[in-house]
Amino acid sequence: MKKWQKEYSTKGYTRINLDQVDSLRNTKERLQRELQKFCSNKKVRIDNLHLYFLDQDIEEVCWKLCQFFWKMKFCKKIIKDNIDIFEKFIGPDIYYQTQPFLRISRPNNKSDNIGFHRDTMYGQSPYEVSVHVPLSSLDKNSCLKFLPGSHLLSDSHFEVAEKGSNASKKGSRKHEMGFPYDPKVIKETPDLQPVPLKFGQAVVFPPSTLHGQKINTGSKTRMSFDFRIISKYAPVKFRQDITSRGYSLLSKSAITEVADNFLKINQQQ
Ligand SMILES: [Fe+2]
Repeated sequence: MKKWQKEYSTKGYTRINLDQVDSLRNTKERLQRELQKFCSNKKVRIDNLHLYFLDQDIEEVCWKLCQFFWKMKFCKKIIKDNIDIFEKFIGPDIYYQTQPFLRISRPNNKSDNIGFHRDTMYGQSPYEVSVHVPLSSLDKNSCLKFLPGSHLLSDSHFEVAEKGSNASKKGSRKHEMGFPYDPKVIKETPDLQPVPLKFGQAVVFPPSTLHGQKINTGSKTRMSFDFRIISKYAPVKFRQDITSRGYSLLSKSAITEVADNFLKINQQQ
């Protein structure tokens, strides 16, 4: 565990093994069943969906899956089941992103990716922690890349690439699915390292780490979700709306619980 925290601090990302994978496996199976319902074909899988859906249908498929993923609160369950790991990073008073992103990246399809970026360039606080979890194993061609040491570099260090054509409209469903309306894409460099993952592994990183993918050059579709968690005591203003920008309480320490109750009781007098 200490190795993970050291890597997080020094390298800017760390690969973790989830303690409990039952809820992750269940999430994968339920999403797969939804996909099978959409195309009435039991052969469709998370990682071969590119063989069964047309280009023009993929946004609709992804939107339906996202809504299902949010409605079922799969991500919350997975974080709760693995709370011991996340507590080690941010302490016991945890808020989580209410609507985390579920992403699909088909092989050789540039429009499915948002390119290399730092989440801090999109307004994330450096006090947030990002977690990327794939729903099937990813090899070096299908996984995301991360730049070691980039978490502590100034924004001026990075060269912005030409604006991609992948922008979403503000407030559109594509925007709600994690495609920025004003993309700030950084040029790819040879130092970016692929981080292959087995099912049950995840990458934990601060939002300032340069990460992403230009194109999935593997042979399988990558389906993954990413979520942000943050300490209740981080110096940020929490939004409570039910969107990807909003946060919900996941867990409270005994100290916070007692303090909150004490204050509530005394306010009533
Ligand atoms: Fe990101």
